[in-house]
Amino acid sequence: SDPDLVARAQAAKDALGGRVFVLGHHYQRDEVIQFADVTGDSFKLAREAAARPDAEYIVFCGVHFMAESADILTGDSQQVVLPDLAAGCSMADMAALSQVETAWEALADAGVQAQVVPVTYMNSSADIKAFCGRNGGVVCTSSNAETALSWAFEQRGPDTKVLFLPDQHLGRNTAVLQMGYSLDECVVWDPHRPNGGLTAEQLNDARMILWKGHCSVHGRFSPDVVDELRATIPGVQILVHPECQHEVVLKADLVGSTEFIIKTIEAAPAGSSWAIGTELNLVKRLADQHPDKHISFLDRTVCYCSTMNRIDLPHFVWAMESLVEGTVVNRIEVDEQTQAEALVALQRMLDLPG
Ligand code: 13P
Ligand code: SF4
Repeated sequence: SDPDLVARAQAAKDALGGRVFVLGHHYQRDEVIQFADVTGDSFKLAREAAARPDAEYIVFCGVHFMAESADILTGDSQQVVLPDLAAGCSMADMAALSQVETAWEALADAGVQAQVVPVTYMNSSADIKAFCGRNGGVVCTSSNAETALSWAFEQRGPDTKVLFLPDQHLGRNTAVLQMGYSLDECVVWDPHRPNGGLTAEQLNDARMILWKGHCSVHGRFSPDVVDELRATIPGVQILVHPECQHEVVLKADLVGSTEFIIKTIEAAPAGSSWAIGTELNLVKRLADQHPDKHISFLDRTVCYCSTMNRIDLPHFVWAMESLVEGTVVNRIEVDEQTQAEALVALQRMLDLPG
């Protein structure tokens, strides 16, 4: 990266000292992650944001929903900055509040709403988290989806159902592969079809009502490439993120959040071979940091998250230098009512055991 920009970023960070706290998601570019005070998956970053009441500014190097969560979890005196406002998430955009409210009413019309607990993946907008907060639901991340779902399934007695938003793959993979539900007990709610494309009978029989959303990055990994790599790399272990399709996760050796993926590679013996199905910035960084292990990417083509990549060094420098000059640019501020309701669902998650 440009040495001039690196020097400017460092100078701005030094000038701000303890007034700024920089959080970096594992999918961020190397040029940005080098300035993070803490790196982590969405769960770890949410906890870190909540634990830093002393920093005046939180510069969030990640995507919009993460910065919103940081704003919800921090006090009024702290200001959260997202260096590029175009850093959204296509998965989070797949569940709009109006669509979810329509689905919720349809569940009432089908006579099942009283049994349903809404659970939203962290990768959702603040108003979806608020929806879960006011309807007895919870937030989860890829690190704690099983714990959050176990909690949810206890909330309405033995016939509890879960409406899982917005990632159908995380919901299905967790329910089927970790909790023993059958694929038949999972149905997919398509917000673009009347009544989600489901009959009242299907809704009645279902335990998991999965929102039809997915991650455009993780959705690209295919089971064919798993077979291909197993045939060409002797002893390769396949390590994937639970946002991958069910057929890919079924064929993998290990599945878990970005933090889990990093810990697994750190603990792996020298000489071992791995093919990793997650965002490419992270896989490349792991390969660079572990030259004694054979690390490949689980796809034939490149596969970055284009919105995570929006946060680059020029945007980071701009945001940091603006703070030095006393101007808060790109502040992410969730309105009070949404904050209060979303906090209920986020706090339920932070209070889960483990
Ligand atoms: P985690 O950080 O929870 O593993 O999530 C991955 C992701 O896609 C974030 O956008
Ligand atoms: Fe969203 Fe997928 Fe990018 Fe994560 S990797 S921010 S889920 S599009």
